[in-house]
Amino acid sequence: MTHDQLVIVLIAGGWSLAIGLIGALVGWRTRRAPIQWSAWLIAAVAIGGVVAGVVGTAQAMFLSRHDLAVIVLVCAVSGAVSMAFSLLLARTLVSSTLRLRAMAAELGAGEVVMPTGAEPREIRAVGDELARSGDLLRAAQARERQLEQSRRELVAWVSHDLRTPLAGLRAMAEALEDGLAPDPARYHHQMLKQADRMTAMVDDLFELSRIHAGTLNLCVQPLALRDVVSECIAGASPVAAAGRVVIDGEVGPDLEVRADPDALSRVVGNLVMNAIRHTPADGAILVEGRRDGAAIELSVTDACGGIHPDELERVFDVAWRGSSARTPETGTGAGLGLAIVRGLVEAHRGTVSVSNHGPGCRFLVRLPA
Ligand SMILES: Nc1ncnc2c1ncn2[C@@H]1O[C@H](COP(=O)(O)OP(=O)(O)OP(=O)(O)O)[C@@H](O)[C@H]1O
Ligand SMILES: [Mg+2]
Repeated sequence: MTHDQLVIVLIAGGWSLAIGLIGALVGWRTRRAPIQWSAWLIAAVAIGGVVAGVVGTAQAMFLSRHDLAVIVLVCAVSGAVSMAFSLLLARTLVSSTLRLRAMAAELGAGEVVMPTGAEPREIRAVGDELARSGDLLRAAQARERQLEQSRRELVAWVSHDLRTPLAGLRAMAEALEDGLAPDPARYHHQMLKQADRMTAMVDDLFELSRIHAGTLNLCVQPLALRDVVSECIAGASPVAAAGRVVIDGEVGPDLEVRADPDALSRVVGNLVMNAIRHTPADGAILVEGRRDGAAIELSVTDACGGIHPDELERVFDVAWRGSSARTPETGTGAGLGLAIVRGLVEAHRGTVSVSNHGPGCRFLVRLPA
């Protein structure tokens, strides 16, 4: 490089650097200004740096006044035209950020966010992300609405279910107090039964609220599934015998499952009691346990006549107990048993499902071994 060229590089570089530094300072001081202003500044620094370098160098080269005037004119015209085009191009950026703001506002208003596809890649990526967040938000809101609805139904149904036996208790207590009860022993027995039913229901509600609050204290340990099943069958056999229902268990002697003993007994007990309740006289119930890969499967198959396909998933809903009228006196439950089963099984990282099978339905619990 000759000495002259070195001088030119230094002078041009110096002028452009000076403009760049001024631009950087202004950019820092106005960093909170609208993005449109940043677009102006970027264009002005880029074009201004070139113009300052050219004009500064030309002046230092001691060109004739005429040549210098020509260069200044050329730079001024080219600079102005380039500036106009730069700003025109920067409008895309400005309009994209405006669109982004509009999308965020749509998200806030719960509307469907939809990037037009005409935005620059990064802005479109943010738009896509907003659209996904919107979908998640709507799904969460729908779930929340559903939960709120089932909570409201639960409160309404439970108060209905408690009011009837309470009215019965009160009537019987009054009759006993006034000495008007024709058969006091039967009244006392009846009152105890009602109190037991209400206690069981309150216990179920408490268990369910602990499941939902995530405050279950599970003591997970290796258990012989066969022992748990035979205990439940033994406990349920008087009820089964009263309904002339045969109940049988088939579980391998060395099948081990890791679970909380009380929770597992409750799961099996609830499924077996449901099966007995819904199986007509002379029907059979089979409780089976088997290993399936890394999971232990427990199934309860009954002869209930099948569940309507539309209602198969609903049986696990809180307080759902079929399409029939809610009449607690007829001995039906509160619709909490299967919700508790599902909560307890999921707390063990397992799954529970139901399907129609043969003359009835089959509840299948899968637990990690
Ligand atoms: N084995 C079954 N066969 C047919 N229908 C069933 C069976 N188990 C449950 N259902 C249906 O699912 C509903 C919900 O069952 P769930 O055990 O949750 O409540 P419940 O038995 O009515 O009351 P609870 O268990 O609280 O005493 C039942 O009311 C019944 O309609
Ligand atoms: Mg039940």
